[in-house]
Order: sequence, then structure tokens, then C-alpha cells
Amino acid sequence: MDTMLIPFNDLQRIEPSLEAELTRRTSEVIHSGHYIFGPQSKTFETRFAKYSDCAQCVSLNSGTDALELGLRAIGIGPGDKVITVGNAGPYGSCAIHQIGAQPVFVDIEPTTLNISLEALESALAGDVQAAIITHLYGSPVDLEQVRRVMESRGIPWVEDCAQAHGARWRGQKVGSFATVGCFSFYPTKNLGACGDAGACVTNCEKTAKRLRALRQYGWGKKYHIIEKGGRNSRMDEIQAAVLLAKLDHLDTWNLRRQEISAIYRERLSELHQLRLPQQAEGSVSHLFVVAHPKREELRLHLAERGVTAAIHYPVPDPGSESLPQTKRACAQVLSLPCFPALEDREVVYICDQMRELV
Ligand SMILES: Cc1ncc(COP(=O)(O)O)c(C=O)c1O
Repeated sequence: MDTMLIPFNDLQRIEPSLEAELTRRTSEVIHSGHYIFGPQSKTFETRFAKYSDCAQCVSLNSGTDALELGLRAIGIGPGDKVITVGNAGPYGSCAIHQIGAQPVFVDIEPTTLNISLEALESALAGDVQAAIITHLYGSPVDLEQVRRVMESRGIPWVEDCAQAHGARWRGQKVGSFATVGCFSFYPTKNLGACGDAGACVTNCEKTAKRLRALRQYGWGKKYHIIEKGGRNSRMDEIQAAVLLAKLDHLDTWNLRRQEISAIYRERLSELHQLRLPQQAEGSVSHLFVVAHPKREELRLHLAERGVTAAIHYPVPDPGSESLPQTKRACAQVLSLPCFPALEDREVVYICDQMRELV
């Protein structure tokens, strides 16, 4: 078989009708002369709140800001301790440190690579003030159980949904279980802007008000500071216009990601030493991740055959290196191409190359 060249992601594979719509919408914004806090971000907030089963959406500048401002909005400040995982990129701990708070790392489930609920419960017995629950790779954590343990201790929490737009736990959208759901719209996310953008969703009026102040210097009204820790984290009108156009396609794209994931699962199950992390029902397959003790060999083998694989994430967050499952995951995970425009024949080709080596 001829070698195929398959990138890890390809944002240039854009449907012509969508490209035309993005051009039309962004050009409308340019002509409107209204670039910040205009009709696009207002409409996006209304529509994304509804999409997320939430009353409020506060548009922001990035997913990391969503985590930081989300934590501030639930009352976290300098010196507080916040539970998080160490295998989900440094975003959570970056947000925690930005506040002057401290991350408390807990280990993950080896089967799902999401937070271990047992580890969460034992960490909650200590001195902690909040938790970030990350739905890694698009697969939701058991949010009913998390809610039960968090409520029993009276500890507030936020959900990191940066990889899980549209994912559900037992039919309810992620982001709507915790006090705040935090989203990134980084271009490669399931819902991605043409630049940086993020948002928080919430059902709590008071929290939404705090977030709206925090994203604009802490102002309640112009120049009048009502919240400490504010900054400029506004989403611009161009990004909101792009996201509005793409939101209509999100469910279709998520289904396509799930189809790709199903092909991988069918063709890669039961290969020697290859583990396929479990995806909960309601997952939106942001990434298709496998784990193998000889990850580097596998990655190079694919690269030689034209396939670019990536690693999410290669190193545990500083301070979480001694957690055994976190350490193992970081040493073994490999993400295979999984984006909506990927064709079936490409997925089959990738599987064939994997089967040749494993
Ligand atoms: C799990 C997770 N959390 C948070 C973020 C941070 O989002 P952003 O890059 O928009 O700051 C990302 C993505 O980059 C992510 O994957």
C-alpha cells in the first residue's frame, strides 16, 4: 500500500460552505465597527448557555482564564488548596498558581485516565478548599458521584470542559453539574475559534455576576472595582461570530469524532500490550488516545508511515510525578489523529500501520 500523509489535525480541511459563512460573518463584524462586547458575543453567550444546559455563559479570552476566573468566582484566593490531576496538561495548575493558591494533585483511574474518585475522596478529607474536575479527552467523569462527594463535604468545584464540548453525563451536559463549567475554544477543540477564546457557564446568578466583573478589571460598572483579581479577559466579536457559526455544526462533528473512535476501537482492540482507555457513554472523543509501554517506538513507526501522532501529555505536572498512575499514563499515552474531517480510509490506514507493529 502507498504511504498516506496524515496530519494529527488539519484545520485547513474546512467545508467550503462553512468557510464562506465564516468569511461573511467576520466581514460583517469588521464593517460594523463594533469589536468588543457587541451583538455577536451577547448572542453567543445566550446560545452557548442554552447548549450547555445552563442559565448563564460568560465569554472570556481563553480556557486557562476560564479556570482561573472560575476558581476566583467560587471564592478561591491566595493560600487556598485546590485538588486537580497531573496528567491533563499544566492548565489547571497554571490557573491555580496564578491565583497564588496551591494545587493538591490526586491520582487517576488507570482505566479511564480521568480523576480517581477514591483518590478524590481521600484528598477531600484533608485541608482543601476546591477542586477542578477535568473531563479528559472528551470523556465525562461520573459527575453524579463527584457531586455527591463534593456536596457531602460542602466544597465548591469547577469542571474543566476544555476537551468536552457537548459531552453528557447521563443525558445532562458537562459544565452544568459544578458551580462553574470552564471551556476553551482554542482552534483545535471540538468547538474552536480562529484564535484564543474561552467561557464559563453557570446556573448561579451571583457567580455569573462575579465572572462578568472579573473579566473586565473587576469592574461592577465602568472604572468602579467590585472584585479583586480582575483583568482583561474579554472575548472579541470576531471570535464570537466564528463560534456562533460553528456551534450549529458541533453535534454533527462530535458524532463524526465518535464514528472515528468506533473504527479505532474495533480495529485496535486486543492488540498485544496496547491499552485503549475506556470512554464513558456521552463522550465526545476529543482525542483518541492509546497507551503502550513502547510508546516512542509506536510513534516513530507511524511517523515513518506518514502518520503524525501526538502526546497528551508527556510529562506530569510538577508536584504530581510520584503518583503512579499519572506517571505511567504520561510515559505511555499516544494520541492518534481524530478530527471530524478525517476520512474512514485514513483511519483504517492508521490502524493497519498500528497492527503491523503491535
Ligand atoms: C483540559 C484543558 N484545560 C484547559 C485548557 C486551556 O485552554 P486555553 O488553551 O484556551 O487556555 C486546555 C487546552 O489548551 C485543555 O486541554
